[in-house]
Amino acid sequence: MDRVVRDRRVLMHVGPVEIELDVLLAGVRENVGFTSKEFVHAMSSALKGLRKVMGTPHYQPFIIPGGGTSAMESVTSLLKKGEKVLVVSNGVFGDRWINIFKRYPVQVDSLKAGAGDYVKPERVEQAVKSNQYTAVTLTHVETSTGVREPIKEVVERIRDNVELVVVDGVASVAGEETRAEEWKVDVILTASQKALGCPPGAGLLAISPDALSRISEESLSGYYLHLGNWLNVMRALEEGKASYFATLPVHLILMLARAFALVEEEGLENRIKRHEMVAEAIRRGVEAMGLEIVARDPSSYSNTVTGVKLSKVPASDVLNAMADAGIELAPGVHPDLANKYIRIGHMGWITPNDAIATVATLERTLNSLGESVKVGEGVRATQEYLSSRLVGL
Ligand SMILES: Cc1ncc(COP(=O)(O)O)c(C=O)c1O
Repeated sequence: MDRVVRDRRVLMHVGPVEIELDVLLAGVRENVGFTSKEFVHAMSSALKGLRKVMGTPHYQPFIIPGGGTSAMESVTSLLKKGEKVLVVSNGVFGDRWINIFKRYPVQVDSLKAGAGDYVKPERVEQAVKSNQYTAVTLTHVETSTGVREPIKEVVERIRDNVELVVVDGVASVAGEETRAEEWKVDVILTASQKALGCPPGAGLLAISPDALSRISEESLSGYYLHLGNWLNVMRALEEGKASYFATLPVHLILMLARAFALVEEEGLENRIKRHEMVAEAIRRGVEAMGLEIVARDPSSYSNTVTGVKLSKVPASDVLNAMADAGIELAPGVHPDLANKYIRIGHMGWITPNDAIATVATLERTLNSLGESVKVGEGVRATQEYLSSRLVGL
């Protein structure tokens, strides 16, 4: 398709996602050092914003370089040699915990779900009650399939039998309800490029006081990701004092501070409702045009990612044609469904208009590639749903 169409790109991806111009511009600054007032103020307000977004007013917030994976690996700061960990994995990113822990002297067990499914709370409860685990890791939204784990229910069932409950909220924080402190989660983590709608480059965590007290010289983490090295830096910066352990992504943090201010302005509940509405609008359209969603149980549908199965056309052809038509979607990465599905990311600053554009373009594109879709039906369903939701707004 022609360059004008292709280059007016709508990014319906799983991170990085579309970035508000206001957020991007906040980082376009000359000569901002890591001890500058601007940076220290931005870091202080980003750390405070993080407490609110994660629902962790009394936890210790961290913003470290890297992303979701550096935040995940830094959790080894809370573990000691020989301890036993249970990984609850619903897909590729759940499995990432196994790959991380394999690099450290801990014992790792796992519970796994098939593609599109999630490990049910009673399975986790049973495993935790019949073993002595120091930590359990859970993935709130498994980005490879778009499946949401019912974290609150799982934690209620296991809280009394395990010391540390760790939640990967990379694809949920700021797009799904995450009341980590109320739910008694010890560690919740995310990345800058997801529902917070910033560029990639930072991992963000909030850690309970009990979990924090596990950080010691015996912690398994190496040097850069040893949270003990970052702790006093975070405390000082939140109090408005410059501090250094290793260089933070200064310009990104200016953007993060702006993003947190915009979340505050929108209201976290409104932001989550917006995500929920756009997600549902997309799913209605996808199903009405005749396609199947990867997540099996509707109660596990997420606000942030939808996996869509294809019956005839290879996923790579669909992604290329969609990109040419001006909408960039994400490839499916679950090995069991290789090249048989695509993912629509709907997080950050997405709007109902993005839902309509995505569904409409997907219908046209799939039809032209020979996938059997009912052209017009998806758009109708999305439009009808949005019209019912937006009445009186
Ligand atoms: C649920 C989840 N966890 C972890 C990660 C890893 O994050 P990063 O790629 O920022 O290291 C991702 C990335 O997509 C993710 O979706």
